Amino acid sequence: MNIILLGPPGAGKGTQARHLVETRDMVQLSTGDMLREAKDSGTEMGLRVAEVMARGELVTDEIVIGLIREKLEAGGGSGFIFDGFPRTLAQADALGELLATTGQSLDAVIEMQVDDEALVARITARSTCGACGEVYNDITKPQPSDGKCSNCGASDFKRRADDNEESLRTRLMEYYKKTSPLIGYYHAKGQLRTVDGLGDIDAVQGAIAQVLDN
Ligand code: AP5
Ligand code: MG
Repeated sequence: MNIILLGPPGAGKGTQARHLVETRDMVQLSTGDMLREAKDSGTEMGLRVAEVMARGELVTDEIVIGLIREKLEAGGGSGFIFDGFPRTLAQADALGELLATTGQSLDAVIEMQVDDEALVARITARSTCGACGEVYNDITKPQPSDGKCSNCGASDFKRRADDNEESLRTRLMEYYKKTSPLIGYYHAKGQLRTVDGLGDIDAVQGAIAQVLDN
């Protein structure tokens, strides 16, 4: 089963994708994580896109489609969760073609709806384990009091360079201008499912499970 988690910055795509990896043996493909890894490992491409990402703008279709192509050719698990990809109509068309050429299909596009006010609160309170990627939130999911990640035990928490109010404004604008047209695109294809992303993490997990099991 291959699915897309579609939603604005802070909607909870990464949080829910990690849960599906643990419970359903699916493979998370987050273009944001791939780009941050490329930056951290100092590749030429990673360094080239770092400033674009920090400003909150989208990187080029060519780069992210190339990253996804590599992963799809490698295959994996009992399906892919596309997290933060596609983000433009060109990326959506490219994904359709890539899946077709590797003999796969897209089973559902799950739109996670969250209002802008909640997004700002979530993003400005987020931190992530630098070792395993576990996502925390100062208010809803605080880092353990012993200073060690509950998932892997490391003590290396990070905050993202684009998790500030100015970059977030740009990220939201990019989402509404370039990514939200995908809602209509997948609705027209009969693949769109919508979940309320405003509930707590468990409630959203339940809503996504219902979509996947029906
Ligand atoms: P990316 O890394 O994809 O960031 P994003 O889309 O802005 O989304 P986030 O990762 O910020 O949010 P999320 O939905 O994963 O939420 P999370 O689960 O962490 O992209 C970053 C940049 O890379 C882009 O701006 C662009 O430059 C570039 N890029 C990436 N892909 C690209 C592409 N395809 N094309 C072009 N450019 C691309 O949750 C957020 C917080 O909320 C956490 O603290 C979490 O604990 C908390 N939380 C989660 N769920 C809940 C809940 N239900 N209730 C309360 N709190 C919750
Ligand atoms: Mg994410």
